[in-house]
Amino acid sequence: MADTQNSGEDEQVTAAGNEISASFVAAKKRSDAVSAELEKNPGKFTMLTGDRPTGRLHLGHYFGTIRERVEMQNKGVHTNVLIADYQVITDRDTTEHIQDNTLNMVLDYLAAGIDPNKTMIFAHSATPAENQLMLPFLSLATEAELLRNPTVKAEEEASGHALTGLLLTYPVHQACDILFCKANVVPVGKDQLPHIEITRTIARRFNERYAKKNPVFPEPTAILSDAPEIPGLDGRKMSKSYGNAISLSATAEETAKLIKKSPTDSERRITFDPINRPQVSALLTTAGLVTDRDPKDIAEEIGDAGAGALKQYVIKSVNEFLAPHRERRAELAKDMDSIRDIIHDGNQRAEAIAEETLDQVREAMGMKY
Ligand code: TRP
Repeated sequence: MADTQNSGEDEQVTAAGNEISASFVAAKKRSDAVSAELEKNPGKFTMLTGDRPTGRLHLGHYFGTIRERVEMQNKGVHTNVLIADYQVITDRDTTEHIQDNTLNMVLDYLAAGIDPNKTMIFAHSATPAENQLMLPFLSLATEAELLRNPTVKAEEEASGHALTGLLLTYPVHQACDILFCKANVVPVGKDQLPHIEITRTIARRFNERYAKKNPVFPEPTAILSDAPEIPGLDGRKMSKSYGNAISLSATAEETAKLIKKSPTDSERRITFDPINRPQVSALLTTAGLVTDRDPKDIAEEIGDAGAGALKQYVIKSVNEFLAPHRERRAELAKDMDSIRDIIHDGNQRAEAIAEETLDQVREAMGMKY
């Protein structure tokens, strides 16, 4: 939690009565400092992040995280990407489509530039030693800490289900994901900050209790991206369940259809005004990201030509942007066996690393017999 005595910035936020914002400011400061260090010395850093295989990756994922992962990989950071399949059942009753979602996710990773020779891609369900860390780690978190996690609470409410044991404890599982490979940087959205906080707490408590002289775990830093959040086509949060997301894997025709039917407003002149005109502005933001232009310039250029002309521009620019990705993806999809091989290989490597860490844990805890 941010210290209110400390900096002017923190004070302002806490004065507004918003504790989460104060800890966000502190997390953002850490993120900026570590990002600067990473620029200078990428080889010193190990990155882990992951996705739940619940559907197709979309443009929001691409600009939010995938692009940044590829950049880190190419800079020389040790990069790891987790297929968080056990997290799928934190708040759903079925694993239907999980195979298909996983394979398609990996196709998108590779098409976007993730190189399996540089980045380890692996799944929860195939790495038992990673999962085993859950037992000692659960002993390092209290019931109160688990119950007050705001992201878990929000997910419980959204699911409409009773709070399952797995939903309650998945932030600890996420600590296993991060710490088994001793990741020290974790690129995430701000909803994930409570999980990084519990991960730091667990690492610290483990080291304090069992490994004072020779700490086993680093305290990782959340890397908060500066990328603007890309809204869904209707101006709401981009989400597959709202039908407002442009999948990386959709065809050009499907994309055109989706953009054409996105809602706008009755004002003819196009202006960029996210507060008062969220729908038109969402289209402009999308076009701005894929063309690397300022949405205001696009708005001015379209002006009185109206929403129809804007949509044509968005369709053309999104499809042009995604064409090379889709081509690479189609090429890769011709050989699904090699996609499975990539996952198997990542699983094996991850399991070997997890075994090594687990061994250090046993050693530190005096449990080597
Ligand atoms: N919870 C993350 C999400 O829903 C996915 C995830 C699982 C993750 N394990 C992780 C992210 C570890 C970062 C680090 O997007």
